[in-house]
Amino acid sequence: MSDMAFSSSACATHSNSVLDTDAQPVVLRASGLGIQFGGLKVVDNVDLSIAAGERRLLLGPNGAGKTTLFNLIAGDLRATAGTVTLFGQDVTAESTASRARRGVARTYQIITLFRETTLLRNVQLALMAGTRRRWNPWASFDGPGSDRRARDVLEQVELDTKVHSIVANCSYGEMRRLEIALALAQSPRIVLLDEPLAGLSGPERRRVGALLSALPRDLTILMIEHDMDIALAYAETITVLQGGRVVVDADKQTVLDDPRTREIYLGH
Ligand SMILES: Nc1ncnc2c1ncn2[C@@H]1O[C@H](COP(=O)(O)OP(=O)(O)O)[C@@H](O)[C@H]1O
Ligand SMILES: [Mg+2]
Repeated sequence: MSDMAFSSSACATHSNSVLDTDAQPVVLRASGLGIQFGGLKVVDNVDLSIAAGERRLLLGPNGAGKTTLFNLIAGDLRATAGTVTLFGQDVTAESTASRARRGVARTYQIITLFRETTLLRNVQLALMAGTRRRWNPWASFDGPGSDRRARDVLEQVELDTKVHSIVANCSYGEMRRLEIALALAQSPRIVLLDEPLAGLSGPERRRVGALLSALPRDLTILMIEHDMDIALAYAETITVLQGGRVVVDADKQTVLDDPRTREIYLGH
């Protein structure tokens, strides 16, 4: 963590932060975290600690439990073992909406947009909702503040020229960027990105990689991604998951040099 270009004062305003031995506030901690479905431990005894501003890559083969771990952190699934702590508060029993209010946002592996309406409206709905899965269709979303913020977020993902386009008419790459905009709309403190580059062309991948690199340095990012070129350029620390368990968890180079990583993930 010592090489991070990150000012610890950036998070000093978050009164719930706890201090880690690295002297960076820990924003997310999982302790003994697990879930089982019909006796199968899909996430098993996971310990994880992520500091403010960290860019962490979560690697592992298909079925390793990566998305399920995101679900446990964001509250989409409730743990059957262990705890999730966000900004120093135990949120294990809290709903998705409540965790979102604390500053957690996520994207989904499968695109989940309102396809028949505009990009702007999608972001406005996300802004109103606390979480975009719990929006109130009768609330007003045409206020000037909400409009300004929505346009700013779309600009952040380079979709400012498309605000009035209908989502269904957008390219896949634009939809992926819109998903990221929805996650950013709530001004989150930690963002969970589930395969943000999946299905994108080479140029779109580089574009998304560049805009992720341009995100504020105090925003904490936990990313699942298989595009090694972009993900490894981006990540500072890596956690390798296999069979629901953490196998290796360290700084990027240590993880890449570890023979278990090569065997499990890189296949050689
Ligand atoms: N709701 C569920 N019920 C039963 N099994 C599930 C459920 N969700 C995920 N699984 C299983 O858990 C394993 C891990 O899934 P997932 O977290 O999606 O893996 P990854 O994202 O690493 O590819 C898979 O074998 C999957 O079939
Ligand atoms: Mg997955």
